[in-house]
Amino acid sequence: MNDTAPVASAATAQSITITLDGTNRSMTIPLIPGTIGPSVADIRKLYGELGIFTYDPGYGGTAACESKITYIDGDEGILLHRGYPIEQLAEHSSFLEVAYLLMHGELPSQAELTEFTYNVSHHTMIHEQLRRVFEGFRRDAHPMAVMTGMVGAMSAFYHDSLDINDPRQREISAFRLIAKVPTIAAWAYKYSVGQPFTYPRNDLSYAENFLYMMNAVPVEPYKVNPVLAQAMNRIFILHADHEQNASTSTVRLSGSTGANPFACIAAGIASLWGPAHGGANEAVLKMLAEIGHVRNIPEYVEKAKDPKSNFRLMGFGHRVYKNYDPRAKIMQRTCREVLDELNIKDEPLLDLAMELEKIALHDDYFVKRKLYPNVDFYSGIILKAMGIPTSMFTVLFAVARTVGWISQWKEMIEDPSQRIGRPRQVYKGATQRDYVPMAGRG
Ligand code: ACO
Repeated sequence: MNDTAPVASAATAQSITITLDGTNRSMTIPLIPGTIGPSVADIRKLYGELGIFTYDPGYGGTAACESKITYIDGDEGILLHRGYPIEQLAEHSSFLEVAYLLMHGELPSQAELTEFTYNVSHHTMIHEQLRRVFEGFRRDAHPMAVMTGMVGAMSAFYHDSLDINDPRQREISAFRLIAKVPTIAAWAYKYSVGQPFTYPRNDLSYAENFLYMMNAVPVEPYKVNPVLAQAMNRIFILHADHEQNASTSTVRLSGSTGANPFACIAAGIASLWGPAHGGANEAVLKMLAEIGHVRNIPEYVEKAKDPKSNFRLMGFGHRVYKNYDPRAKIMQRTCREVLDELNIKDEPLLDLAMELEKIALHDDYFVKRKLYPNVDFYSGIILKAMGIPTSMFTVLFAVARTVGWISQWKEMIEDPSQRIGRPRQVYKGATQRDYVPMAGRG
C-alpha cells in the first residue's frame, strides 16, 4: 500500500451509510467530530427516515450531549478538565480554581479567582431555618440520605434563584450550591454524632473550612493540619468532574425538564449514592474489613471471578478506564503522604489493599477484562486515616462533584440544541389484547 494514499478511517470519515437489509431503503448518517476523541454518529433523523431506534442499555456507546468541560480517554488513562491534565491540576491548583475552570472554561486571573472565592465564601452559611430541618432526621440516618433531603430542601428556601432562564439566578444558585454543600455535609456528620453544628469560617480555604466544620468543637481551639488540608484539596479536585457518568447524566436528565438546580443536584446525589458509583469508596472499606487478612485474599478474588457470585472487588473496574484510572495513581501517592504525616507506620488496611491490588493486577481474569483500581480504591483508606467515618466517604464525593454537576447543568441549560431527555425502548411485552373480566380469568 502507498503510505501517502489517504486511508478512510473512523477518524477521517464524515458519514456512515446504513441500509435496511432486504429493502432498498438506506440513509446517510452524518458524523460529528470531537476536538479529540471519536466522532459520533448523529442518529437524530434515524427513526424519521428508517423507522428504527438504536439499542444501547447503559448508554456505553451513546453520546447524549455536546460538552466542552471534561475529556476522558479511557484506553490511555487520560483525564482533562477544559484541556488541562488532572495530574497538573492536582499538583498545582486549588479546588476553587478548578471549580472556576470547570464553570468558566479558562483558568482565572488573580482578580477573577479572588472575586470567585469571595462569592463562594459569602454563601457558606445556610438559612437558619434550614438548620432545623436536620432535626427531622433520625440521628442514625445515613448522611447521604440527609444530603439528598437537605439539598432538595434548598429549593424551598432560595426562591430568588430558582428561575433557570435568568443567567444571574443560575449563577447565584451555583454559588449557593458550591458554598453550602460542605456546610450541609459537615452538619450531617455533626448531627449523627450529636455534636453542635460548627459554622463555616470564610478566612479558610475550601478544603480547610470543610475539615474545620467536620472536626472543630466549641470547647477547644482547632487548627487545621496543612498536610491533611492539601490531601483534602486533592481529593476534592480528583472528584470534581468526570464527564457523563451516572450522577452527572441524572443531573442533566433532571435539568432537561426545567427542574430547578437544587432539585437536580439532589437527584445527582441520590444517583451517586449507589455502590456501583460514588458509594464504592465506602464499599471498598467494608470489603477490606470483611476480607480481614492477607491470607483470605485468594478466596475473595476467586469469589469475584465466579460468574455465579454477585461479589465484585469494590474499587476495581471502570466503565471508561480500560488502562488505569489516572486519579487512582494520584490518590495512591496522597495516601502515602497522609499516612506519613499521621505517623501511621502499620496500616493493615493499606497492606491488605496493596496486596489485593498486586494479586488482582496479575490475575488473568482481571487482566483480560482490563479491571484496574479506580479512584475509590485508595480514597477510602486516606479518609479513614484522616478520621472521617466510612458513612461520610460518599458525602465527600458529593461535595466535590457538586461543581461538576452544576457546570454540566449550566452548560446544558445554555445549549440551544438540548431537549427534554427521553430515551426509547424495545418493547417486549404483550401485544394489544382485550380486558378480561374477573370471572373469565383462568
Ligand atoms: N470485580 C470482579 N469482576 C468485575 C468487576 C469487579 N469489580 N468489575 C467488572 N467485572 C467483570 C464483570 O463481571 C464482567 O465480566 P464478564 O465479561 O465475564 O461478564 C466484566 O468485568 C465487565 O463488567 P461490566 O459490569 O460489564 O462493566 P461495566 O462497565 O458495566 O461496570 C463498574 C463498571 C460498575 C464500575 C464495575 O466495574 C464495578 O461494579 N466495579 C466495582 C464497583 C466500583 O468500584 N465502582 C466505582 C466506579 S468509579 C466511580 O464511580 C467513581
